[in-house]
Amino acid sequence: MSLTVALSKGKLLAGSEALFRKAGLPFPGKEGRRLVVALDGLRFLFVKDMDVPTYVEHGVADVGVAGRDVLLESDCDVYQPLDLGFGRCRLVVARQKGSGADLSRASTLRVATKYPRVTAAHFLEQGVSVEVVKLAGSVEIAPGLGLADCIVDVVETGRTLEENGLEAVAEVASSSARLIVNRASYHARRGEVSGLLEALRKAAP
Ligand code: PRP
Repeated sequence: MSLTVALSKGKLLAGSEALFRKAGLPFPGKEGRRLVVALDGLRFLFVKDMDVPTYVEHGVADVGVAGRDVLLESDCDVYQPLDLGFGRCRLVVARQKGSGADLSRASTLRVATKYPRVTAAHFLEQGVSVEVVKLAGSVEIAPGLGLADCIVDVVETGRTLEENGLEAVAEVASSSARLIVNRASYHARRGEVSGLLEALRKAAP
């Protein structure tokens, strides 16, 4: 049976494709909208970024590529043997530029985010009481529209913050793409998994 690889359809897709090709591994072309593709001894699943760790933890996929931000949020039990070196970004707390308010002094802060677990843990550590408002995306508009006092979100180039009048005020975590491996596959399919791992390790920046 082919080794199954779970990949994100989102921002990490281009970097994953570049790395697989550099490593001499098969990678499906862009044609079509099929989400499960078998190619030259590998089977690829294209899923939402937050779902990659779930497919790998449950053993539906043997390996996957997921951002550290997503892994922190999902808290899935998977091996993380390799930092793939692309998809670098930061998870930050951001608020409206020039708002001047001291976030650590607010009695209960409302924080909009796609990362409720990471957000709750961050503010708990800071001793700040928060109400987390979970959103699925476009989080940057929440403060300006009065839905939240601040956000916790991913910043890559900083353009989205800038163009929506926000500024980063604290870093929560740094992130990059990681190779993740199902715990049972890591042992039961050791040869195939290490072949893939070594090829990616050599090609990773
Ligand atoms: C991510 C993130 C920011 C943006 C940051 O969103 O949530 O909105 O990218 O990138 P930048 O710093 O380079 O501007 P994504 O594109 O994944 O879309 P989403 O907001 O719908 O989740």
